[in-house]
Amino acid sequence: MIKIISPSILAADFGNLQAACEMINASEAQWLHIDVMDGVFVPNISFGFPVLEAVKKYSTKPLDVHLMIIHPEKYISRFAKAGADILTFHYETVENPLEVIDLIKADGIKAGITINPDVPVSALEPFVDKVDLVLLMTVFAGYGGQKFIEESYSRIAELKEIIKRKNAQCVIEVDGGVNTENAQKLFESGVNVLVAGSAVFNAPNPIETVHDMLNT
Ligand code: DX5
Ligand code: ZN
Repeated sequence: MIKIISPSILAADFGNLQAACEMINASEAQWLHIDVMDGVFVPNISFGFPVLEAVKKYSTKPLDVHLMIIHPEKYISRFAKAGADILTFHYETVENPLEVIDLIKADGIKAGITINPDVPVSALEPFVDKVDLVLLMTVFAGYGGQKFIEESYSRIAELKEIIKRKNAQCVIEVDGGVNTENAQKLFESGVNVLVAGSAVFNAPNPIETVHDMLNT
């Protein structure tokens, strides 16, 4: 089974992004998660293209970009050019998800779709065989450092069932409240990619924490 850790740069020290990227480069994390927030779809504002470009300059890992913005379709090519390798948008923000998936693929990068914890998992059914990645939010999008929502395990099981029924090949990612305590249970539940922000960057030894998440 594919097991990937995608540390979220949102929890890094923005005064020294180069050091944060180099630390992740030296770790066993396979991807780097980039949270883009617009202050409209979510109450918080994070960063945009210049920061993504700076991270791209220093990171050797694929950039897993999570868009929490309205009208994501307007910005796909710019995110692809700025360095996104995987681009994930919220189902809640678009009228026609299939069109957005096609636009992302047309830019030659991987496409992901995501939903907040209050959207039924069944909403994703038409898309699981069209995307490379499905992200189930395990907190409400907007802020790092929130508590993992325990009801997420039944949503993961439901998503796995849909993916199996449709014989789809996408990977399952979860995001929010992931730490060394729940990482193993999440992988065992069938999750392939764990996003972890504060658990990695606030740890006394982030490199060891990534290792522990993959190996405990
Ligand atoms: C939340 C973001 C998450 C966040 C995760 O809106 O999408 O990626 O950075 O942070 P932690 O791991 O601290 O919950
Ligand atoms: Zn995220």
